[in-house]
Amino acid sequence: MSVKVSIRGQSAAPGSLADALKGVKLKLVTISGKGGVGKSLVTASIAVGFAMRGYKVGVLDGDVYGPTVPKMLGVSNSTLFVDERTGKIVPVTGPLGIKVVSIEFALPSDDTAVIWRAPLVNQALRDFIAQVDWGSLDLLVVDLPPGTGDAPLTIAQSLQGGLDGSIVVTIPTEISRRIVLKSVDFSRKLNIRVAGVVENMCCFKCPDNGKIYYIFGRDAGRRVAEAAGVPFLGGIPIDPELSHYLDSGRLHEFLAKENDTARAVLAIVDQLAEMYKDKLSQQVKAEEKPKRLSLLKLPGEEEE
Ligand SMILES: Nc1ncnc2c1ncn2[C@@H]1O[C@H](COP(=O)(O)OP(=O)(O)O)[C@@H](O)[C@H]1O
Ligand SMILES: [Mg+2]
Repeated sequence: MSVKVSIRGQSAAPGSLADALKGVKLKLVTISGKGGVGKSLVTASIAVGFAMRGYKVGVLDGDVYGPTVPKMLGVSNSTLFVDERTGKIVPVTGPLGIKVVSIEFALPSDDTAVIWRAPLVNQALRDFIAQVDWGSLDLLVVDLPPGTGDAPLTIAQSLQGGLDGSIVVTIPTEISRRIVLKSVDFSRKLNIRVAGVVENMCCFKCPDNGKIYYIFGRDAGRRVAEAAGVPFLGGIPIDPELSHYLDSGRLHEFLAKENDTARAVLAIVDQLAEMYKDKLSQQVKAEEKPKRLSLLKLPGEEEE
């Protein structure tokens, strides 16, 4: 089985996961029972929000089938390099110094569909996680593929023991209720603490008059969190301005605005920072050495 990608160069050296993550204080994943609910928005927002609060942040876009985090952070079309001295993958540096690694960086174009079979996906994911040189970070946030199937399971299992919490992202409909419970169950079965539920699209902020409309009814996210016995972290309105900033890769600029939506997002970040303040104040430090870079070759890529 082989993968056709546009880059040529050096393979990353196999490494142990514990090694790759030893300089990372707090490791969180975002999960959702289905796609399109705003999981990547929440992942990227947590990364940016923590970075705005002065933390050193990394983000791993593990959604092999729909990698969108780089676009939201304005670092699409970046290339991954391997440090020749260590054989480790060097993350791309995004806004506010956020370290970004995504499968998107290895695809030939924006419109390329990832049609790898499960074993290759699993291998690519493991390699990504174990072979990246994250250095010292306060927070690593991982965007898992949607659902509770093979791909999210692989990443979660690869990181098992190292994960400090999961953030379940949902939208406020009755149908989502069961899906949230499934995501909570997924997390618990993998022994990952559920940090809480984020209700995206909790309401609509009208651009004409700034009024908030609760299209799907109020407090569905809070109720489902209570039913599952996990914390409710907050809601994020549907905001056309946010959508515009996301599409143009300027989430960090949006969150710096002092509007209701940005405040709602940062309130979620502050809750997480409070929840994990002991972890964040730990002393851990990875060694930082000078790098010598060459292009990354993906697992499964054929020699020419
Ligand atoms: N609260 C929101 N306000 C405006 N647009 C949003 C909001 N949440 C998500 N979107 C838009 O909806 C789409 C899906 O969001 P995304 O985070 O990519 O979902 P997922 O990762 O769950 O598939 C994106 O284009 C994003 O820009
Ligand atoms: Mg996504």
